Amino acid sequence: DPSLREVADPTGRFIGTAVNDSLLNDSTYRNIAATEFDSVTAENAMKWESVEPQRGQYDWAGGDRLVDFAQQNGQLVYGHTLVWHSQMPDWLENGSFSDTELREIMTDHVTTQVGRYRGEVQRWDVVNEAFNEDGSFRQSKFYQQLGASYIADSFRAARAADPDAKLFINDYNTETQNAKSDGLYRLVQDLLAQGVPIDGVGFQNHLIVGNVNGSAIRQNLQRFADLGLEVAVTELDIRMRMPADSSKLQQQARDYRAVADACLAVDACSGITVWGISDRDSWVPDVFEGEGAACPWDDNYRPKPAYDALRDAF
Ligand code: XIL
Repeated sequence: DPSLREVADPTGRFIGTAVNDSLLNDSTYRNIAATEFDSVTAENAMKWESVEPQRGQYDWAGGDRLVDFAQQNGQLVYGHTLVWHSQMPDWLENGSFSDTELREIMTDHVTTQVGRYRGEVQRWDVVNEAFNEDGSFRQSKFYQQLGASYIADSFRAARAADPDAKLFINDYNTETQNAKSDGLYRLVQDLLAQGVPIDGVGFQNHLIVGNVNGSAIRQNLQRFADLGLEVAVTELDIRMRMPADSSKLQQQARDYRAVADACLAVDACSGITVWGISDRDSWVPDVFEGEGAACPWDDNYRPKPAYDALRDAF
């Protein structure tokens, strides 16, 4: 049987996975990541807390391993993520800085990280999860001190550091049209009107089995695409209440298919990244109590119906 990347390639879309740095030594994991996907996103290794645990002390080891892995396997790298309220290093999270100093810390971080991987990372989530559910701006440290201009400044710093990388804003619960995605839409319109260098919008797609409306997802991707931007499915997983059973797994397969079909129906949808390979390694059970089995491979790295559905979509 062909791999996901083999069927995705002729459609011009990428098929990616989040890669967990600590699992790259496992040969089964490594082999699936290498052969099934043509794009990789660091699950954690490129987050601020990972790359600059102490102020001014950088640790690029995990990010570099991912980039090396991608280069060995002829894969794209999706950079995740530069400016985000979560997984910030303690010195930043708990430190107090003047507004001027914070703006400089933020833009220096973007400049340093994008510069480090210039020419090696094709897409960056420059800003992640900037919105509340009602479409207002999340009260992150950056928003509270700097206001909404922190977003434009981050994108400008990223563009200057690598003019060839595509720059994304990424969020969750924005997959269909709702108050949150409307807020995101207004921001993106605004950034474009101001000439801020933004190229794409990422939709995480952390979804729930039985709650996936493919045509609503397609229409929402299309309205962002109609602004002239690239769109992408950046963190797809579809969780269920545990334990799994065959009817839930079949529904999950239909839901994966619906998301893939939505992307494939939109010319500007450049690809799909799944947030993990195996249910065993997924972040879902740690965060959503009683839920799991959200990935295309099961606990034993055997492909699930969701895997077949994804492959059939291309
Ligand atoms: C998650 C990782 O999967 C976990 O390993 C980590 O403990 C927390 O972050 N939205 C994002 C991702 O943008 O970075 C998150 O990844 C999942 C939600």
